[in-house]
Amino acid sequence: MLDSASLGGLSRALPGWTRKTGQDRLGNAPQGVLVDPGLAEGLDAAVNCQQQAGELPRTVRADMCARSVSGVVASRRAEDSASGASRHFAESRTPMTEPRNAPTADLSGRFALVTGAADGLGLATAAELGRAGANVLVHGRTRPKAEQAMRLLSGRPGLEAARFVAVHAELSSVDELRSLSSQVGELAPDGLDVLVNNAGAQFSERRLTSDGIEMTTAVVHLATAALCRLLLDQLSQAARRARVPAQVVNVTSINERIGKPVNDWSYAAGYGQVRAYSNAKLMALAYTYAMARQIDETQVTFNAADPGAVFTDFGRKAGGSAGRMDRALRPVAPLLIAGPEKAARRSVLRALAPDAAGRSGGFYARGALRASSKRSNDPAVIAEVQAVTEERLATLGF
Ligand SMILES: NC(=O)c1ccc[n+]([C@@H]2O[C@H](COP(=O)([O-])OP(=O)(O)OC[C@H]3O[C@@H](n4cnc5c(N)ncnc54)[C@H](OP(=O)(O)O)[C@@H]3O)[C@@H](O)[C@H]2O)c1
Repeated sequence: MLDSASLGGLSRALPGWTRKTGQDRLGNAPQGVLVDPGLAEGLDAAVNCQQQAGELPRTVRADMCARSVSGVVASRRAEDSASGASRHFAESRTPMTEPRNAPTADLSGRFALVTGAADGLGLATAAELGRAGANVLVHGRTRPKAEQAMRLLSGRPGLEAARFVAVHAELSSVDELRSLSSQVGELAPDGLDVLVNNAGAQFSERRLTSDGIEMTTAVVHLATAALCRLLLDQLSQAARRARVPAQVVNVTSINERIGKPVNDWSYAAGYGQVRAYSNAKLMALAYTYAMARQIDETQVTFNAADPGAVFTDFGRKAGGSAGRMDRALRPVAPLLIAGPEKAARRSVLRALAPDAAGRSGGFYARGALRASSKRSNDPAVIAEVQAVTEERLATLGF
């Protein structure tokens, strides 16, 4: 709890932040909290989201985080009494559940493609797959970005012997999706063993692709579905060669729980940053389940992985509400949010662990096989998403 002298010091250290005393929106009565009013909503939402996901103890309240944000930022910017605030938060936390990590499968000689592998969760996933012996096709939006990621990975301690190869595509472009499929065919002529559809983005304002599809829907759902289809033959080929099923893991998000299937992929009306993202994640998840039902699981398995909240540049790049949440949480992110390596181990790599092999239609989160939302498992929703998606893929010539 901050006394008024500490509050005064913090206020001076944090221009733009205001003192807040008395009862907060959650009904608590902190003696003193420093809040940037523009960030308070994001902080509440972040804490609620984390608690729903079981990532943060229920005993932690948004006002504690606000104090911690204040404290950590202030301690970086000015050496004053901020440490009291950080200590308060640290003491009020109960231990988080430790992730249950499964051993990584031996992927020696196998080929894996990770989309969005130049940053965040994708980069961490690519590193782990390389460590497991795979030839990793490191996808970036552009060739220079993919090559930079490839060099970064190759230079990491312990990964000197791993093989990383750069591939590139702007995933909102139909032509570039086809080009990516061709690049994979050339680099992995005997088939693709693992496909991780990780790339994702949010947009604070509605943007359309040249095909008239809203960007979030194009990158998060359509590109995922298109790559599942475009690379299916190469995945089946690898399964026949290796005599084990090839594996597809599609990265999802807790936002699928508030998503709905939509028919108008242009969002001519009703665009919202979180709405479009949540709907796209729900549709990508339902499509994953549709593929799992449709494709023989002895050939190719389709699973989903929810990394939980991850400390990456996702929110900063997205801007809007995600950007505000990012700014609110960044100072305390190491306390609150898993880094990409831990998040990858608990989600994508968990779905690729030996005990998950041969299982299709699973949802992996927080280190275990779990249940996704009721809506995502609804057969009518899965059928609806599959029908709309197949129709759109056919229209685009996939
Ligand atoms: N961060 C979280 O808290 C969180 C929580 C749940 C789920 N997720 C999911 O985890 C996945 C990875 O996200 P992250 O947090 O690691 O974010 P990130 O660091 O921004 O990584 C996303 C990657 O996707 C790429 N990408 C986005 N749009 C693209 C496009 N049109 N064409 C080609 N590449 C594109 C990005 O490239 P550029 O850098 O060039 O844009 C970046 O490499 C996403 O699917 C995200 O929805 C994240």
